[in-house]
Parts: sequence; C-alpha cells; structure tokens
Amino acid sequence: MPVNVIVGAQWGDEGKGRVVDLLASQADIVARYSGGDNAGHTVTVGATTFKLHLLPSGIAHSHTVGLLGNGMVINPATLLEEIDQVRKVGVSINPDRIKISHAAHLITPGHRALDQAREQARGNAKIGTTGRGIGPAYTAKVNRSGLRMELMLSPEVFFSQLADHFQEVNFQLETIYQEPPLETQGIMQDFQVYLDRLQPYITETGAYAAQALGDGKTILAEGAQGTLLDLDHGTYPYVTSSTPTAPGALVGLGLGLGAVDRVIGVVKAFQTRVGEGPFPTELEGELAERLRGTGENEWDEYGTTTGRPRRVGWLDLVLLRYAIRVNGFSEIALTKLDILSGIEGLKICTAYQSGGDTYQTLPLGPGALEGKKAIFEELPGWEEDITSIRHWEDLPANAQKYVEALEGFLGVSVSIISVGPERSQVIQR
Ligand code: IMP
Repeated sequence: MPVNVIVGAQWGDEGKGRVVDLLASQADIVARYSGGDNAGHTVTVGATTFKLHLLPSGIAHSHTVGLLGNGMVINPATLLEEIDQVRKVGVSINPDRIKISHAAHLITPGHRALDQAREQARGNAKIGTTGRGIGPAYTAKVNRSGLRMELMLSPEVFFSQLADHFQEVNFQLETIYQEPPLETQGIMQDFQVYLDRLQPYITETGAYAAQALGDGKTILAEGAQGTLLDLDHGTYPYVTSSTPTAPGALVGLGLGLGAVDRVIGVVKAFQTRVGEGPFPTELEGELAERLRGTGENEWDEYGTTTGRPRRVGWLDLVLLRYAIRVNGFSEIALTKLDILSGIEGLKICTAYQSGGDTYQTLPLGPGALEGKKAIFEELPGWEEDITSIRHWEDLPANAQKYVEALEGFLGVSVSIISVGPERSQVIQR
C-alpha cells in the first residue's frame, strides 16, 4: 500500500520537514493534507534553505508532484509569494508539478483580521494563534459559508461571494470587535491577480491521487502542526482548527481507509511548544536557553512563521503514548538528538502525578493537563559531538541507550534519527 503519512507527534515543529525531505526521495507525490500558512517547514539542501508554509516540503525533490489537499486552508498571497521564492532558487513550479484541490478553502485578509481581533478580545485567555486567519477560515468552512478554491474557476460567482464575505467580515469587525473595517477595493483587485495566476493549478486532487495510486505511484502525506494541536485530540482550546493527526491525511486528501502503509511519528528529542497552554515538562533558565539555541541558526527553536521563541522542556512520554494511540504510528523518526550532546543527565517524563494519582497516558477530560506534575527518569548523557555519525553502531553507548529506552517505554521502534540540519545528517536503522 503506497501511502506513507508523516505526523508530528508533539506540539508541531518536530522537524517533519527533514523527515519528509528524506522520504520524498522515494515518493512520486508529496501532499499537504491540513492546515495553512500557520505551518513553517525549514528544509535545508546543501547551501540553500527553503522556508515553506504551504507548498509540500518534498517538492524540493525535482521528480515529485506536489498536492495541496482539500483539508487545507490556503492564503493565495502567501502561496504566490512562496512560489516566486522557490522558483528563485531553481525549483520548478507549474501546473504539472503543483495541484491545488478544488475543495481547499481560501484564506482572505478578512479571516486574518478576524483572527487577530478575536485574539485581542480574548485578553488573558488568548490562544496564541499565529494570526494567519486559520480559525476563521475553518469556521467558515464548517459554517458552510467558506470560499473554496473551485470558486476561482467561476470568476463572476467568486467575486460576488467575495464581496458578501467582506461585508460580513466588516460587520463583525465593527460591531463585535470595534475595529475599523477593511478597505476592500484594493483587496478585490489583488484577488483578480491571484485568480489569474492560480486558476491553472486548481484540480480535483482526490481523483488525481486515486489515479496515481492505481498506476502504482506512491504518495507521501506531510503532516503540518502536531498531534497535540489537533482540533479533536489536542490540548483544546490551545489547538489549531484542523486535523493534523494521521486520520486527517485520509479526509484531507480524499483517500480510502485501506490506502495507508507506514505512519511515521516525528518526535523531537525534547519538547517544544509555541503559544499558550499547559506544558508539564517545561524548562526555564540556562538549560532551556541551551535547548532553544540563540536564534542565529535556522534550526534554533524560534517560530518559522512568527519568529516567537518556542517554550522548551524535557521529552514527555505520557504525551507520546497518547500520540501513538490516536495516530497508530508504525515507527518513530527521532529528530535533533545531536542537541542533547553534552548535557550531563537527560530527563524523560515517564508519568504524571496529581492528587495521589499516577498517569501513564494523557489524562482526558476538562483541564486534563492542568496541575499535573511530571515524574522523571534520568538517563546518563554523552559528551561526544554526534553530528557526523551516520551509522547506529557509531553512536555513543549512552545515545543508543537513550533511544532504546524510548523504544522500551513506547513499544514503537525508532527507524530514523536526525543528528543535524543537513539532508545527509541522518541515521537510518
Ligand atoms: P493557529 O493555527 O494559528 O490558529 O494557532 C493555534 C495554535 O497552534 C497556537 O498555539 C499556535 O502557536 C499553534 N500552531 C499553529 N501552527 C503551528 C505550527 O506549525 N507549529 C507550532 N505551533 C503551531
């Protein structure tokens, strides 16, 4: 079965782009199935670094076709900017290479304005969204008043619906949030440009995928965000508005249940989180700064989309057991193991404790994570720089023990280990 799904096992930013880049070399089609330009994937190939928000990371491989699935919400301005950017570094983009689902939804400046106004109105209860209009665009989809890509194929209907949309947005901005209305004339003109440029890319991607699978091709489904940001299974309400978990790949690409072969959970060797919400293994101080990095490097822990410093903490196996349950990982790709080099004692959270109770897996129910104390096991660290190691046998004994301890606790094997930001800095087992 030829569909492999890559899913972030934590709160996003696990380094999925790296793993996608590795596996895309063996895939015919690379596909994004959920989210929008709230995601940010940094892909480094040789001396060139790509920052992708909407295009599948795997398009860095010239033999692939990229799909933007129906589960996505797409800001056309960002997409076109990104297309222009990657073309500049030699990636070919044309309608034979990139296909956008007719059923994906558009994000407009109206959705962005509403996202930002809502966040501001939430005050201390803010979610910490990326402000990219993700929530309002999915709200419109569920409310059956969204703007699907296919509307761009019927310009008259499109502009009429777009005008209604901005009228509604401005009504909300003015009456609910006491914000100034958007000046829509210029925005409508921008949309004429988007329409002219994007029309040729719009197609029924589900049918394209089915035909490709029938022809024996393989698809790599690229998750964005992470399991704990899933609208249903994440740490609600501090979640995004889509389904980044593995089942989202089926819905978001229009695939049947039997299509999937491997489900690869991408796990960073420590925990990070952007935005608000509980974080039982969170670290502060010197060690946190060390794990986060200074921000000088692309791979340091600062948001690719917003530049915000990420919160960091020890690896949390309680959350990972839960991620395994809701995604059904067949294997794990462990990223950033090299960042742990030189730390004397490595802690991993094996359980939570609260009010005399011990939790091995994520406690469910209202406020489940609040007030939970992390119980740690400490493993010995290693001093050696492991960034040039390419074979499992060459890893320091304590690094091997760290990986094997994870496998033992989680019952899932680690098949890929990344030890640096370059394409080649990977150990495959
Ligand atoms: P939204 O997706 O912009 O609505 O943001 C909702 C929550 O998801 C916020 O906590 C964001 O920081 C988080 N989030 C959204 N996309 C990403 C991502 O790609 N990586 C990490 N966090 C994300």
